[in-house]
Amino acid sequence: MLFQGKRALITGAASGIGRATAIRFAAEGAQVTIGDRNEDGLHETAAMMASVPVIQPFDAMDNASCRHLVDVAAADGLDIVCNISGILKWGRSEGFSLDDYAQVMQVNANSVFAIIQAALPHLIKARGNVVNTASAAGLVGIAYSAAYVASKHAVVGLTKSLALEYSSVGVRFNAIAPGQVNTPMVQQTAFPEGIDYALLMRSAPKLLDGACEPSDVAELFAYLASDRASKITGSIVSIDGGQVAG
Ligand SMILES: NC(=O)c1ccc[n+]([C@@H]2O[C@H](COP(=O)([O-])OP(=O)(O)OC[C@H]3O[C@@H](n4cnc5c(N)ncnc54)[C@H](O)[C@@H]3O)[C@@H](O)[C@H]2O)c1
Repeated sequence: MLFQGKRALITGAASGIGRATAIRFAAEGAQVTIGDRNEDGLHETAAMMASVPVIQPFDAMDNASCRHLVDVAAADGLDIVCNISGILKWGRSEGFSLDDYAQVMQVNANSVFAIIQAALPHLIKARGNVVNTASAAGLVGIAYSAAYVASKHAVVGLTKSLALEYSSVGVRFNAIAPGQVNTPMVQQTAFPEGIDYALLMRSAPKLLDGACEPSDVAELFAYLASDRASKITGSIVSIDGGQVAG
């Protein structure tokens, strides 16, 4: 088992990729704390896991809530943090509200820094690692989603900078850049009216059947967080059916 004796914090675990990752880490022997703003969803996830997790609701809009989540997860030490919570808001930029812009940045990027900052003393002690969730939108521009794209580019920058800053104390930082994944985030998102679909299709997966299932992405979280990836830090690993290849 990949994570026997390891303690992991997984956010966004009430749904989609976070849920699949929590299930996968528990199956690999990790002692898991799951966090999300959706408490009912956390309980549903817990019922699917091979071992009983610590369930800790939190709100990524609130940095104090992020720090409390880490305190709970690190009660007996902490080896791994998977930052997976996120929100997606589409819209033409001329009408996009600044409140929505700030919310997307806070949930997708600022809270990631707050969680990592709180976790660092524990990760340094454990020589642990962090796997963040970027996106294809962290590597290329995508029309009608400037806020989301900016937030995911921020995740890429955080990941690389922290990898450099903490490599000398043995803490690794990587990010996963999924393309299209079949989760409620995508299934429940309506495109704005009157948009240029040709622009959007430029960033569609290229492989036949290139859309991922959450378990495909969970597999990559497990690999990067494990000792098998001990030489990988500062990497942004795509799983996108060729979406950003060209
Ligand atoms: N689905 C995709 O196609 C895709 C592609 C690239 C990247 N991603 C990223 O993957 C991650 C997981 O997304 P998903 O597709 O599983 O979507 P999802 O909507 O199924 O899961 C997102 C989770 O984040 C939680 N969340 C949202 N706001 C929160 C807040 N304020 N505080 C705490 N938790 C909050 C939600 O409750 C939900 O459980 C996100 O960071 C997303 O940006 C998704």
